[in-house]
Amino acid sequence: MSPKNYCLIGHPVNHSLSPKIHNYLIYHTKLNAGYICFDISDNDFGSYINFLRKNFDGFNVTVPYKEKIINYLDEIDFEADNINAVNCVKIIDGKLIGFNTDIYGIRKTFEKYDVNLDHKNILIIGSGGAAKPLIQYIKNFKYSKLDIVNRTVSKAGNLIKKFDVKKSDVFPLEYLGKNVIYDIIINTTSIGLKGEWPYKMNIKAKEFIFDMQYKLESKTPFLSLVNFDKSCDGKIMLIYQAVKSFEIWNNISLQIDLINIIEQMRG
Ligand code: ATR
Repeated sequence: MSPKNYCLIGHPVNHSLSPKIHNYLIYHTKLNAGYICFDISDNDFGSYINFLRKNFDGFNVTVPYKEKIINYLDEIDFEADNINAVNCVKIIDGKLIGFNTDIYGIRKTFEKYDVNLDHKNILIIGSGGAAKPLIQYIKNFKYSKLDIVNRTVSKAGNLIKKFDVKKSDVFPLEYLGKNVIYDIIINTTSIGLKGEWPYKMNIKAKEFIFDMQYKLESKTPFLSLVNFDKSCDGKIMLIYQAVKSFEIWNNISLQIDLINIIEQMRG
């Protein structure tokens, strides 16, 4: 059988860990395949998609193209359509079918830490692309409250409307400096990733803190600041969105060893 070709498209992609994860999965499953990255400018987007349509079997999509890709699809999965973001495309006979596997990564993160969102007060920080699958996921639960903090408060308001979120308030970032307690706090922004978290944080969590940022060798700036025992960064989400993509492309179900994959990512 001819080798399967998979890739990541986005801009920038030079620090992406997706090739390490996927090439490890290829090694692990002994499939005849490879995974590479294409750093694509906005102007070249259409011609690259035509190229991939003819020469590839599937691809992942990262920032800033998770919405733009939707215009190029022949079919879209129901959940990806609701989220309005696609990070995984399967190509069958030149047809592009879009999925959102970030939501699977989010589900696996909460499951791994045994966190149930029913009857919980939840705070989301951020209203960009990463907040959308999270809200879609949280809406599966009978949460008590789902508030959003964002620099641009109107964007948080738009998300509440788009996802028809009930029992919700939106606040500016200064809200993080207040003495308020939530059960669960999730950071979906990339604030401070290259330095320190610059905003005052007095807000506290009782049960769980999830930072979608990740660092391989240390805590993220956000998790260093909040210093809470039951917390986790975005590595599990990153790994499981990749695993789900791989399963969709190859019609298989994978049993993976998380620790081993994290070692490969460090490698
Ligand atoms: P996307 O994920 O849609 O590409 P983004 O520009 O990466 O969007 O931003 C993601 C989130 O991080 C947004 O909530 C953004 O706040 P705004 O909606 O106000 O733009 C937030 N964000 C990014 N950089 C930030 C910063 N330096 N300070 C505060 N918030 C920031």
